Amino acid sequence: EKGGWDSFMDKEIHEDPAAVQRTLIGRMSDDGTIHLDEVHIDEHELKAVDKIIVVACGTASYAGMVAKYAIEHWVRVPVEVELAHEFRYRDPILTPRTLVVAISQSGETMDTLMALRHAREQGSKVLAICNTQGASIARESDAVLYTHAGPEVAVASTKAFVAQITAAYILGLYLAQLKGTVFRDEIRNTFDQLQAMPRKIQWVLDTQPSTIEQAAVQLADARSFLFLGRHVGYPVAMEGALKLKEIAYTFTEGFAAGELKHGPIALVDEGEPIVFIVPPARGRNVLHAKVLSGIEEVKARGAYIIAVAEVGDKDVERYADVIFWRPECPTLMSPLVDVVPLQLFAMDMAKQKGYDVDKPRNLAKSVTVE
Ligand code: M6R
Repeated sequence: EKGGWDSFMDKEIHEDPAAVQRTLIGRMSDDGTIHLDEVHIDEHELKAVDKIIVVACGTASYAGMVAKYAIEHWVRVPVEVELAHEFRYRDPILTPRTLVVAISQSGETMDTLMALRHAREQGSKVLAICNTQGASIARESDAVLYTHAGPEVAVASTKAFVAQITAAYILGLYLAQLKGTVFRDEIRNTFDQLQAMPRKIQWVLDTQPSTIEQAAVQLADARSFLFLGRHVGYPVAMEGALKLKEIAYTFTEGFAAGELKHGPIALVDEGEPIVFIVPPARGRNVLHAKVLSGIEEVKARGAYIIAVAEVGDKDVERYADVIFWRPECPTLMSPLVDVVPLQLFAMDMAKQKGYDVDKPRNLAKSVTVE
């Protein structure tokens, strides 16, 4: 069943491009409109949505955090992302104009299921982004947008994450189309950018593994890691940190790069490995300069810098000890590629340490208890 791969995790990371591609199939027609035919929520109700709340856990919540940046940018509707287990117990403000988006690979996560039940009881509509046909979360929602990542077996979620971002982006573009907040040409253009992503992910899978493996060999004994990013790179950093703690049992912390000076920089000591997600430099991207100054700060304190950066980024080359390269792509699309080297890195670290990458200790693939 592993199709020649050492582990399901390895196989599933290599299915990242297909997971994105299959999730996009049939969504854009020749006239440039996005289709969500199976979403049976009345168009008028969707048009009237004035707030979106994403509820999810773990990796799915990081996909939701990525989606927040894109959906708010395109749809101009506030998006909150909340861990499902926190959401239900804090008396959240829910109205018939709130759209709750429940993201779940398994569709059986009890925390997420309870959150969506609560939202529906309060009169809000729930749309599920789910990878498992007919799962509880799909059945109990008002509408489902399936991700087509295919069955995910390894406990650590990989291909489902990129498929979740893709599905949430399609939802965002659909809402933008309904509300008229983005021109049709721009919707088509953005959809084309999404369609180009499987090829870019494949480039990472074809060219970066030996650098990633060497880094894992060198860093296998590191006691802790920090993962930092800004904007969409922030949830990617969180996800990279989660992958490493889950399967390599390395103590990691992910946070927003801008927080460094507000406390975490105190942790930085000689040789501390720090992973930076560096945004594209093109177009004098102000975020690029900000992340770079964070790199300079910690480099000056002796940190060991691992960067995920765009091919040809000379500034990063100057400071980083190791670079996992990403091909050129727009900032909003970058999480789809940037997570891939981090998935491979976590897997290689776990292998170096002799752990079972598919079945990490203490964890279950779907968490069906609250
Ligand atoms: O099946 P779900 O997407 O609802 O699962 C949510 C989390 O339990 C899941 O993403 C978990 O964090 C994974 N072990 C991450 O690799």
